[in-house]
Amino acid sequence: MAFKGRDVISIRDFSKSEILQIISLAKELEKKPSPELMKGKIMASLFFEPSTRTRLSFSSAMERLGGKVLGFETKEFTSVSKGETLWDTIKMVSQYADVIVMRHSIEGAARLASEASSIPIINAGDGANQHPTQTILDMYTIEKELGKLEGLKIGFVGDLKYGRTVHSLCMAMSHFKPKMYFIAPEALKMPKPYLDDLSEKGIEYVEEADLMKFCGELDIMYMTRIQKERFPDPVEYNKLKGVYRIDKSITQKMKKGARILHPLPRIDEISIDVDDTENAAYFRQAANGVPVRQAILALVTGALK
Ligand code: CP
Repeated sequence: MAFKGRDVISIRDFSKSEILQIISLAKELEKKPSPELMKGKIMASLFFEPSTRTRLSFSSAMERLGGKVLGFETKEFTSVSKGETLWDTIKMVSQYADVIVMRHSIEGAARLASEASSIPIINAGDGANQHPTQTILDMYTIEKELGKLEGLKIGFVGDLKYGRTVHSLCMAMSHFKPKMYFIAPEALKMPKPYLDDLSEKGIEYVEEADLMKFCGELDIMYMTRIQKERFPDPVEYNKLKGVYRIDKSITQKMKKGARILHPLPRIDEISIDVDDTENAAYFRQAANGVPVRQAILALVTGALK
């Protein structure tokens, strides 16, 4: 299926070969910057929820390709604060730009926006649901760090209930015959529909609360933050915050060559003494957001086929 004009709402909408095509294009763009590719095109960057990496790496990607960016980073200064609907907002903005990148706190908001929009919508995170462009940059990072995507042992650690990056990544990696380890306290376990999906595809997985039990088996340890903003009850958050914390002594128990990824931001789940170990790949991962998002922007706007 062609990319031009397509929305990027859920990683489920992309086949294995399409994901690999985006990764391959991102590699080319990283090696060979193309400052004229998006000349004359405008990206609308609509962030109804806070962001550092996703918003700035999308802007960087667009500007490095010669395009322009407009938008907002908080809804307080938009007409949404006067009561304008998401539908009407998107109807307007889709007349001002060539592509919309949107983050929203409500699950399904990106899908709704795509129905209102006449231009491609890229989901930059919708509540606890999906974060598809993070997933592709995570996979780009895994391939770059380990040289392959097939047959890996991947541990997802932390907030697996509300973690949209985990939800998207486990779906996408299921194309590559992994073994998955879901490491979370009872209250933050991986939602059942994702586990059922893995079972249907014949993907082997285990659920565990103790981080140390499988630490030495993993090729990738995908750490996540316990997300305060998603908890309906702050008492529950206070009970669970700080549940996992990796430090240098834990990295010494990891398999040689294993990598720690984290979509970031981190709070206290990775100690800063891990940053200079060979395992720490999370800052390189954040940098990979630029070429991957360049590839996605170029494909959906038709700047590249
Ligand atoms: N990884 C990620 O989505 O980070 P931001 O919230 O800073 O965009």
